[in-house]
Amino acid sequence: MTDEKIIRDVQIGDAARLAEIYSYYVRDTAVSFEYDAPSAKEFECRIKNTIEKYPYLVCEIGSKVVGYAYAGQYSTRKAYDWTATSSIYVDKDYRRQGIGSALYKALEDKLREQGIVNVLAGAAYCETEDEYLTHDSKEFHIRQGYSLVAHMKEVGRKFDRWYDLLWLQKKL
Ligand SMILES: CC(C)(COP(=O)(O)OP(=O)(O)OC[C@H]1O[C@@H](n2cnc3c(N)ncnc32)[C@H](O)[C@@H]1OP(=O)(O)O)[C@@H](O)C(=O)NCCC(=O)NCCS
Repeated sequence: MTDEKIIRDVQIGDAARLAEIYSYYVRDTAVSFEYDAPSAKEFECRIKNTIEKYPYLVCEIGSKVVGYAYAGQYSTRKAYDWTATSSIYVDKDYRRQGIGSALYKALEDKLREQGIVNVLAGAAYCETEDEYLTHDSKEFHIRQGYSLVAHMKEVGRKFDRWYDLLWLQKKL
């Protein structure tokens, strides 16, 4: 079986698989501050909203979708139009195989093409890693060339614990 990574635009038919990848991070980790895993139908709506204005990419290996990344609006105020947010989720069993890097590289290329000059990523964080949250997201973003620009303390509560939120920024 080939382990070639194919990066392509999302299709609505990917919704159920993306919901499956994301559900682990909602149910079992503090990576996402959502409490309830969205349904495939809800994922479809989110995808449709995003692709009206921003890139949304998936990575396939051997025709299995193993991760996805998308951009979003940072703020509706006009002056923010050159700034977007980025989000990324890799199937928990496929991490550390370069999938995240491949997705982000392709996402950044698309964002540059549409004139975006700043990308911001929000990452849940706790000083000491626990069973719900690692430093993966922070380390990954630093490796992708993002810089830490904000550290908001104890802004999210999940699993009866407080979690911080980091904002990381990359100039494209
Ligand atoms: C963060 C995430 C997207 C990284 O995806 P990935 O496919 O595992 O990343 P890659 O294999 O491309 O890693 C690229 C580099 O990032 C860094 N990195 C990634 N995970 C890391 C970790 N746990 N600790 C330290 N560095 C890490 C490393 O430098 C790595 O290169 P290396 O493996 O050659 O050392 C993935 O762990 C994930 O989906 N996590 C849960 C969701 C999440 O946190 N999303 C971000 C918030 S929206």
